[in-house]
Parts: sequence; C-alpha cells; structure tokens
Amino acid sequence: MQCLPPTTLITGGAGFIGSHLAQLLASQGQRLLIIDDLSTGRTANLTALPAGSATFIHARLSDALTRQPSLLDGVREVYHLAATVGVGRVIDDPAAMIRNNIHETASLLDACDGRGVTLLLASSSEVYGPSEAMPLSEEAQLLFGPTTSPRWSYGMTKALDEHLALAHHARGGLRAVVARLFNTIGPRQVGQYGMVVPRFVRAAVEGRDIEVHGDGQQTRSFCDVRDVTAAMTALVGGARCHGKVFNVGSDDEITIDELADRVIALAASPSRKRHVPYEQVYGPAFEDPRRRVPDLSRIRRAIGYSPRHTLSDTLTELVALARREKPVAIPNA
Ligand SMILES: NC(=O)c1ccc[n+]([C@@H]2O[C@H](COP(=O)([O-])OP(=O)(O)OC[C@H]3O[C@@H](n4cnc5c(N)ncnc54)[C@H](O)[C@@H]3O)[C@@H](O)[C@H]2O)c1
Repeated sequence: MQCLPPTTLITGGAGFIGSHLAQLLASQGQRLLIIDDLSTGRTANLTALPAGSATFIHARLSDALTRQPSLLDGVREVYHLAATVGVGRVIDDPAAMIRNNIHETASLLDACDGRGVTLLLASSSEVYGPSEAMPLSEEAQLLFGPTTSPRWSYGMTKALDEHLALAHHARGGLRAVVARLFNTIGPRQVGQYGMVVPRFVRAAVEGRDIEVHGDGQQTRSFCDVRDVTAAMTALVGGARCHGKVFNVGSDDEITIDELADRVIALAASPSRKRHVPYEQVYGPAFEDPRRRVPDLSRIRRAIGYSPRHTLSDTLTELVALARREKPVAIPNA
C-alpha cells in the first residue's frame, strides 16, 4: 500500500494570498488540497504549482465539506483563507459577505473538530476598526464603528471568526492560531475590489490619473505576500503559537499620497494624482481609519519574524509585471 504524506488544506487557495501560500507549501513538498469557489480567485493563479502537488476542488467550502466529509481524512494542517474580501464587495452586499465569512468558517471548524488538525485562520487588521491606539496590539480592546455604516461589518465577521476558532481550540477540538493580516501586496493581487496598490500600479503603467480616495494623508503599511505566507507557515509550525493571535504585516508606515508618488516615480509615469472624496466612491457615511500600524513585537518574539521585501522592491516588481500584462477593466480607476 502506498503511504501518502499528510495533506494540507488551503481554503481560498486560488485567491491572491492563498495561491502564494500554495506555492510555498508545494515547494516544501507538501501535498495540497485546495477548495475555492472562484468567486474572486482564479485557476490561473495555480498554474505555477508543480504538477501533481495539488488537488483542486471548485466548490463553495461548506458545500464541499457537506458533500464529501471524507475530504478531511488525512488532512493535518488547514489554512483558512476563503472569505469575501475588499471594501468594494463589502459595501456592495454586506449581508452576503457576513453570511459567507461567518457560515463558511463555522462549517469548516465543525468539520475539523476532533480530527487533530492545526488550523490557521486568516483574520484581518479590520478587527481593530476605527481604533487610534497605534501601534495596534493584539491585546488591545477592540473598537467597532456603528452598525449603520456597513464598512465596519467585515471586521466584525473576522472578530467573530477569531472567537469561533479560539473556542474550538480551548475545547481541545483542534489547534488554532489566528493571523491578523495587515495590508498585503504582491503579484496576482487585483484592483477590482478596491485594493489600492494594484489600482495605482495599473493606472501609472497606463499613464492615467491615479485616483486617491480621501485627502491622501491617511497612512497604511504594506507587506509583501511572500513575507506574509512565510510567517503563516511558521505560526502553524510553532506549537507555542497555537491558541494565540498574531499581527502579521509591516510597520513601515506611508501616506497614500506618498504611495502614489512612489508608484509614479518607479514607473516613470506621466500620471497625476486626483483626490476623490470617499463618499463619491463608497457612498455617504463612509469612514476610513487615518492610520493602521501593527505592533509586531509578539510575532518577532515568537518566530523571529523579519520581512525580507521592502515596499520599493515589491512595487518595482509589480510595475514590471503590469507592463507585461494585458490591461483589465478596473472600476473606479
Ligand atoms: N489581501 C489583504 O491585504 C488581506 C488583509 C487582511 C486579511 N486578508 C485575509 O486573507 C484572506 C485571503 O485574502 P486575499 O487577499 O487573498 O483575497 P482573495 O479574494 O484573493 O482570496 C479569497 C479566496 O477565497 C475564495 N472564496 C471566498 N468565499 C469562498 C467560499 N465560501 N468557498 C470557497 N472559496 C471561497 C475566493 O474565490 C478567493 O479565491 C482572506 O481571508 C482575507 O480576509 C487579506
């Protein structure tokens, strides 16, 4: 009888971050099971995987698990990334996003419970809501915006997912670790759903105006997806990390105006910045945190976390890639 190595499940593995994670794990010789409904993911994201390293199931996660509970037989590690992502999609249909982010996570956790798996939940810096307590620390009290502003609902779904995962962990049904990802960038990220870097890069390469939402003085810190995925695997591999929450990202802060300037300079583009009020893009009462900087001391202590890519490195690569790609329609760009 052939003895197959244990399988690693990546939910949302055909998405931006999931496909980079798949590449990293496959390069380490892991056998992968990828479940993705392709709502925002693309099978083209998986073409770089070595032949035979992954089984891909095109399905909604909960449907796949209900139809075939034996799917999880032999699965030892689970990276749960499937979720509705992007401010544009959240604003368009908050109810669908809430159902997807909570129901799918609850189904997965129930299915994994009692199987001895280690599960990483991809959470988000959005759980910090409009908090101004910089740097944002994992132990801080969470602050949520009003429920009349749908923008905050995404962070609430992620916070509830964290509670669910940690509750399963506390009960001993599985080992869970929570990665609160901050802005992540890299190849294959798309701008359709409001992601700022791919929107800026595409506009700069095409010489169009770069649309900066708000006054451009809000800051963010961007981390390369390859640093993020390396941290995710280290968190799963570090038994002392289980049952805990970790910020994952960069603390190198930049204003969105400066980001646009840097993209324009790196692309040697004639593009100019154009500031557009938030309400014109996302409707009335839209709010955006002014700053979002992670406290990275916990993850540095736990896994010696130290991102290898600088923002300029990643932007330079993205500009080069965008020059080679066919233009795609980007709403609001
Ligand atoms: N990109 C970022 O900056 C960022 C920041 C914080 C947190 N995150 C989290 O990281 C994860 C991955 O995000 P991403 O940027 O790669 O987005 P993405 O949209 O590229 O990836 C999500 C993937 O999940 C799939 N999916 C969604 N619902 C599904 C379902 N019910 N069943 C099966 N597949 C489903 C989508 O088709 C897509 O491939 C998400 O959980 C997101 O909340 C991302």
